[in-house]
Amino acid sequence: SEHVARAEDGALRVAGLDVRELAQEFGTPAYILDEADFRNRARAFREAFAPATVYYAAKAFFSVAVARWVLEEGLSVDVSTGGELAVALAAGVPGERLVFHGNNRSAAELGRAMDANVARIVVDSYDEIERVARVAAERGIRQRVIVRVTVGVEAHTHEFIATAHEDQKFGLSLAGGAADEAVRRILAAPSLELVGLHSHIGSQIFDTAGFEIATRRLLGMLHRLRGEHGIELPEVDLGGGFGIAYTTQDDPQPPRVLAESMRAIVERECAALGMDVPHVSIEPGRAIAGPTTFTLYEVGTVKDVALDGGRRRTYVAVDGGMSDNIRTALYDASYSATLASRRSDAGPVLSRVVGKHCESGDVVVKDEFLPADVAPGDLVAVPGTGAYCRSMASNYNHVPRPPVVAVRDGAARVLLRRETEQDLLRLDTGLDVEEGA
Ligand code: LLP
Repeated sequence: SEHVARAEDGALRVAGLDVRELAQEFGTPAYILDEADFRNRARAFREAFAPATVYYAAKAFFSVAVARWVLEEGLSVDVSTGGELAVALAAGVPGERLVFHGNNRSAAELGRAMDANVARIVVDSYDEIERVARVAAERGIRQRVIVRVTVGVEAHTHEFIATAHEDQKFGLSLAGGAADEAVRRILAAPSLELVGLHSHIGSQIFDTAGFEIATRRLLGMLHRLRGEHGIELPEVDLGGGFGIAYTTQDDPQPPRVLAESMRAIVERECAALGMDVPHVSIEPGRAIAGPTTFTLYEVGTVKDVALDGGRRRTYVAVDGGMSDNIRTALYDASYSATLASRRSDAGPVLSRVVGKHCESGDVVVKDEFLPADVAPGDLVAVPGTGAYCRSMASNYNHVPRPPVVAVRDGAARVLLRRETEQDLLRLDTGLDVEEGA
């Protein structure tokens, strides 16, 4: 990626820092995040989409510092659990800059959101409508809500992250009438104020056709509600899902181009329906966080394996794996890898970057050509790990989760520290008895 360069001796540098020094100071594996890149991407979305509201989707990657960057760059924040809400509030994000998503939030989570004056709660089921209405009534407030509509689009992405086709858990079906029934129920609840409609068709999407259909259907419903209920909902939230380049085959569009096409669709459709353009929101997560970060690993073992047909593959095992990047195993995601600590003139060999976990599916990078002399002690960088890697990290095999280190102008600071084995043992109550004795 453009913010990472190679020094004369071939070692990677980011924000003026040598990865070998970063590895020395913070250990490996580590997520190395370029703060300026993160802020630039956030700002680019905000500027390109203005006057739309841009909510940064916290699920991609979140921490107190990230929440503050996002606010400083003029964005708002999309949280989808009590945990993400807690981080946003701890960082000082005001309720009016938050939207609360989810498909099964407890009354306690909803209550905390309302106590923080969260501006919008997106409802996803009849049960949630009832729950939000009750929790708001208990507080004597009128909560602003948005209905998550399933618009029936087949987004071209992995099945697990596509969300607008009918047979999945999110949203209320437009075609099936559930979205309209949700509107009726909200309008009948005195503690709720319906302000708009929401659609999120999936994630890692490149084809704008899906967004176009979703937008047209959402606006069509907005228009129909005017006739049927006499209500003019002021907002549409078009969700996130903008794809990023994990490999050179992916060709994402810059925010400016996305914004222009989205604006054109909204304006054309509203003109055709003869209605005012509503306030638009979007919720990018991956497209802001993803490209800003690479994972820095140290190679521990290298193994040469014979494949059918006489070919060979080199298994390069690093000191992390599926616990810090589950996306390859879970979605069959493609990543790239590069030798980060030095230059090599050795020829490229077909390699697979694997982790240290106890299963064969523990693959970080399926296929990559790495220099034939990659050896224990070398550093390897895997780019594009800023979204859904640390946020989906686990402690499988009791492996502590790596730190996130932000670099900027020649300085590094830890956003999330490395977990320790002590952190993990602290959750284990088995020693309490002996200690107490
Ligand atoms: N808004 C809503 C309502 C969402 O559900 C999501 C993502 C976003 C916005 C942000 O989508 P983005 O711009 O980041 O694509 N773990 C998966 C991705 C799951 C996305 C879930 N919802 C992955 O690693 O690919």
